Amino acid sequence: MSSKKSNANVVGALQLVLADTYVLMVKTHSCHWNVEGEQFVALHDIFGTQYNELFTAADELAERLRSLGTYAPAGMAALLKESSIKDNPEKPQTWQKMVADLIKAHETISDRIVACREVADAAEDDVTEDLMIGRHAVHSKTLWMLKSLLK
Ligand SMILES: [Fe+2]
Repeated sequence: MSSKKSNANVVGALQLVLADTYVLMVKTHSCHWNVEGEQFVALHDIFGTQYNELFTAADELAERLRSLGTYAPAGMAALLKESSIKDNPEKPQTWQKMVADLIKAHETISDRIVACREVADAAEDDVTEDLMIGRHAVHSKTLWMLKSLLK
């Protein structure tokens, strides 16, 4: 495979991870705002930590795209179009449903991260591969925390 083609593959896979990261950040932020119930303080704080981490990650992913010679998405429309993660329903959910929905979203993005890591590996793009390994570790830890809440 030509290096131009493999670079395009990395860029395409990275754009999908960025879109999912951003949409998951907005979803998590909304959970931070709207969560209710006995666990309010704990969940409000957990979701707060998570959306802040996702915001920082989105910045790093977008800047990796720029380093690869591509523009970052122009705005929400581009991000939503490429994301496989859906917005929250308009009516706020119970905290249990919020957590279950977030678990699904973190599993979805993990699949895209693994796919991007494989493409980066094939392209011998160590920097993107390293970034994906780091992102995979964060989502894996978040999944453990979210799943523990529902036990
Ligand atoms: Fe807040």
